[in-house]
Amino acid sequence: MRKTIKNRFFLIALSLLLLIGLTACSSPQSKSETIEKAPKTEMKSETVKKTPQKITNEELPNVSIIATGGTIAGVAASDTQTTGYKAGEVAIETLLDAVPEVKEIANITGTQLVNIDSSAMTNEILLKLAKEVNKQLASDSVDGIVITHGTDTIEETAYFLNLVVKSEKPVVLVGAMRPSTAISADGPLNLYNAVAIAASPDSKGHGVMIELNEKIGSARDTTKLNTTAVNSFDSFEYGDIGNVQGSKPYFYNKPSRIHTSESKFDISNVTELPKVEILYGHGNDSRVLVDAAVKGGAKGIIHAGTGNGSVFPETQEGLVDAQKKGVVIVRASRVATGMVTHEATDETNKFVTSDSLNPAKARILLMLALSETSDPVKIQSYFDNY
Ligand code: SIN
Repeated sequence: MRKTIKNRFFLIALSLLLLIGLTACSSPQSKSETIEKAPKTEMKSETVKKTPQKITNEELPNVSIIATGGTIAGVAASDTQTTGYKAGEVAIETLLDAVPEVKEIANITGTQLVNIDSSAMTNEILLKLAKEVNKQLASDSVDGIVITHGTDTIEETAYFLNLVVKSEKPVVLVGAMRPSTAISADGPLNLYNAVAIAASPDSKGHGVMIELNEKIGSARDTTKLNTTAVNSFDSFEYGDIGNVQGSKPYFYNKPSRIHTSESKFDISNVTELPKVEILYGHGNDSRVLVDAAVKGGAKGIIHAGTGNGSVFPETQEGLVDAQKKGVVIVRASRVATGMVTHEATDETNKFVTSDSLNPAKARILLMLALSETSDPVKIQSYFDNY
């Protein structure tokens, strides 16, 4: 009897254990396990869908991103540090990881051309970049190009490309004022907007553009206005050409000066650009730096003069002597807005005037002009039209 009771207890206990085990298998397990399991499969298919480097969506335009460095690729020691960081640290893949949304508006391919602080930009890199841009734009599989770049010299590179790119397809230079590690870094949205511009057929024929802070500026007229502020780029009295909102560019102006496919400058066989120095005019100036520039092999000098390009008397003598030795002199201005007007003395001295180009952009145009000619009259016509 006792044995039977014992056996019954044993059977009941066994059944209970089995029941608990079965319930555990069929009912939801621990919460974390359930959450982990269900999305796993979903995530997998999503990841595959969102990898356009491997899967091209025929309905989306193809945008190529060429990375060159700058603050947009900068890394600081802490997320509150917005100055004193190292620019040109992060590679293109990391930049793109911060904005996976770009892959929803374009098929993206990336090239890391260099990874530098743009204050270290050289003529060699400019030529290499321009040749890469022209090569990529010649392909039917590229609809537009975005170039990530440091903001310190972005306007020079943009203007150089504006003069030598042989295509109507959009080319957009983009940077950031805060490093990628900062709270409220501006790089990701700027990059997203730049891709939106490069991906849009509306952007064709506007020349090379600069995009930061939702503004679209022309390469010729956009300049950096503030050393550290996020809203640091503007086109002064000539105006931005548009803005970008909600993944779409809106255009209001077209650059009237010659650019891209209309430009006569062709760098396809150029391996070196002539040396052009910029000298900054000031009270109590001298000719020391003019003579040093000539001695150093300058083929051209941009004089960033006071006011309407005026020059200190001793410096003027130095410039006239330099011109007599065959150096082309361009009178520009250190003043932020307005043009430098052509004066009768320029005729006598065979000086060129910069029109409304700032000294940094005047250096770019003079280098290209000197690759063609050293005739000041011809060079003046470039400054009047480009
Ligand atoms: C740079 O020009 O590379 C550093 C500064 C910046 O991108 O804002």
